This record gives sequence, structure tokens and C-alpha cells, in this order.
Amino acid sequence: MYARIVAAAALMHFCTAMLADESLLSTYTDLVDESGNISLPENMRRDWAFLGTWSIAAKDVKASGVASGHGAAGLHIVYTQRETIDHFLKTGKFADGAVIVKELLKATTSSMTTGTVSSGTEVEGWFVMVKDTQGRFPSNPLWGDGWGWSLFSVDQIDKAVTKNYKRECLGCHIPARKDDWIYLNGYPVLER
Ligand code: HEC
Repeated sequence: MYARIVAAAALMHFCTAMLADESLLSTYTDLVDESGNISLPENMRRDWAFLGTWSIAAKDVKASGVASGHGAAGLHIVYTQRETIDHFLKTGKFADGAVIVKELLKATTSSMTTGTVSSGTEVEGWFVMVKDTQGRFPSNPLWGDGWGWSLFSVDQIDKAVTKNYKRECLGCHIPARKDDWIYLNGYPVLER
């Protein structure tokens, strides 16, 4: 009896994992076209999970009441689908179809009751990475090293600015190469 319960639980666990993975494959119908062009996901602030924030220090912020040199000039807010987190916590890997979006916000700094505080203002753009375990687009220069790579500017959200990920993205991600090119230390929710 006990063995049967364990087997059933294991099967359920397996099925949930499979379902999560399959739901991520909708990325390849919803956000990636047949040539490998990536679209910017909509409503990720509301519908996706928050991974982490990076604060870009201001060299010289002169907001009123705040000492020069304090605060952040920009904030990077990173989102992904919930299933990406579930899969990563189970396997330590990014699932096929996982999408990671880094939103770039300008920031302003002011004195608040908590101290000297920076908060996000307008959006400048979004960096998007789409996990591809299949090598789907070998001749598309936005795809390779296990990901699709694109930057979108707020002035032109329907077409990526990026032409070639090797020239425009990869060099800067080399320090994170051993973690599948992702700067994991900014994302405590992925700690296993
Ligand atoms: C100037 C160096 C630099 C360039 C160029 C660059 N990145 Fe990054 N990227 C980083 C760093 C560093 C982080 C994490 C810290 C931060 O955001 O400041 C990051 C984070 C990201 C993240 C969040 C996930 C992660 O790895 O932590 C995505 C998505 C991303 N970059 C995509 C891209 C894409 C797509 C391109 C090319 C269009 C690109 N990046 C070009 C340095 C760079």
C-alpha cells in the first residue's frame, strides 16, 4: 500500500513537472515566429514572477536633498514565467521555452522616511533571453549558446534592436557562462 502511494506521488510529481515544461513550450507559438524573431512579452509585470533587481549606482545624482554620488541612476528588474522557477528549482536548469526579461528603468533618488531612496521612473527598454535546448535557429544570428537574445527599445517595441548576439550580448555575459550565461547571484528565488 505504502509503495503504491509513493509510486502515485512520484507519478504526480513527474506529471506536474511535465506539465510545467509543456506550458513553457507555448513560448514558441506565442513569442517566437518561424524565423526566430522574438516578441516582447506583454503584462509580465502583472502575470510573471519577479526574479530580482539590479541597482546601477549613480556617479553623480543631484536630486534635491540628496548628496551627490548617492543613489541609483537605473534599476534593472528581472522577470520570468513561474514555471521557469519551478523547473529550475527541480532540475537546476532553465527549461526549453523559459523566457527571462530584464526591464531597464531610469531611477530618481530622494530623501524618504527610510533614508536616501531610489525608485524607478520611465522604462528605457527590455533585454530578453529565450531558452532553446533544441538549437532551433542555427542560421539566425540572434540564436545560439542555448538562447535567443534580443534587446527592445521603448521607442520600437515591436522589433528587436539586436542584429547579432555574439557581437552585442555574449561578451558581457562571459562571467556568467558556467551558469548558462545567467547572472544567478541576483536571483535568490532560484537558490537550491
Ligand atoms: C555591457 C555588458 C552587457 C551587454 C552588452 C549585455 N548584457 Fe545582459 N547583462 C549584463 C549584466 C552585468 C547583467 C546582470 C547585472 C545587470 O543587469 O546590471 C545582465 C543581465 C541580463 C539579463 C537578465 C538575466 C541575467 O543574465 O542575469 C538578460 C535577460 C540579459 N542580460 C540579456 C542580454 C541580451 C539579450 C543582450 C544583447 C542584446 C545583453 N544582455 C547584452 C551585461 C550585459
